[in-house]
Amino acid sequence: MQIGKYISLIETELLPQIFLTTPSPFDPIIVENRSSSWKTVGSGNYAGVFSNDLNPLLVVKVYGRDPDELKKEIEVYKKLGDHKAYSHLYAYSDSYLVLKKIDGITLFDALVKGVPIPESVIEDIDNGLEYARSVGLNPFDVHGKNVVMSNGRGYIVDVSDFYKQGYCSKWDDLKKAYYKIYRPFLKKYHPSIPFYVVDGIRKGYRLYRKFFRKAGKM
Ligand SMILES: Nc1ncnc2c1ncn2[C@@H]1O[C@H](COP(=O)(O)OP(=O)(O)O)[C@@H](O)[C@H]1O
Ligand SMILES: [Mg+2]
Repeated sequence: MQIGKYISLIETELLPQIFLTTPSPFDPIIVENRSSSWKTVGSGNYAGVFSNDLNPLLVVKVYGRDPDELKKEIEVYKKLGDHKAYSHLYAYSDSYLVLKKIDGITLFDALVKGVPIPESVIEDIDNGLEYARSVGLNPFDVHGKNVVMSNGRGYIVDVSDFYKQGYCSKWDDLKKAYYKIYRPFLKKYHPSIPFYVVDGIRKGYRLYRKFFRKAGKM
């Protein structure tokens, strides 16, 4: 399907049928999707992400808050160009981005569902982040919901904060947990970890970081 036709479907069938609300700055956006032709594939802190079977190679990321972040994400994608660890930006407006679909599951969902995470995924992400640094970007906010694995390969799906300054420890923390806890103890048994436990770790981690940042220790 041509991109022009896809964009008109976004404008006529998707945007009027979705409602994005933000209950708290610490929780992801809430997506209400009343469209029958568009499916919700994910949501994050800023946006809902949707797909349509008429073009299974694309997704639309619709921003529900902070439209300035969208402009920055566009600039980041322009700098990234084409790299195998990232999606690709095909088109945009002032409220959404049309991106290449990465068909897989987030590392967060892999933990919840007990899907084993191979080391190749971690290595792909590391390579992708190194590439981002080589084009002058600063990998930021790379965590379990912003990384997708598909057929044993790793992809960074959310680059909206790569323009920020300073050091973000999230990916290094995740990697430490992968090598110290996940690989030696958890991976072998493929356990499915209940959603509330993984989400509880995520929330606890955010509070912990907030506390230490305030105390000036991080
Ligand atoms: N290109 C993509 N292909 C497939 N799924 C995606 C893609 N981009 C995002 N997603 C899904 O949508 C979710 C939210 O997208 P994300 O870019 O992280 O939004 P936010 O900036 O709001 O955090 C992701 O966790 C992932 O599940
Ligand atoms: Mg995200």
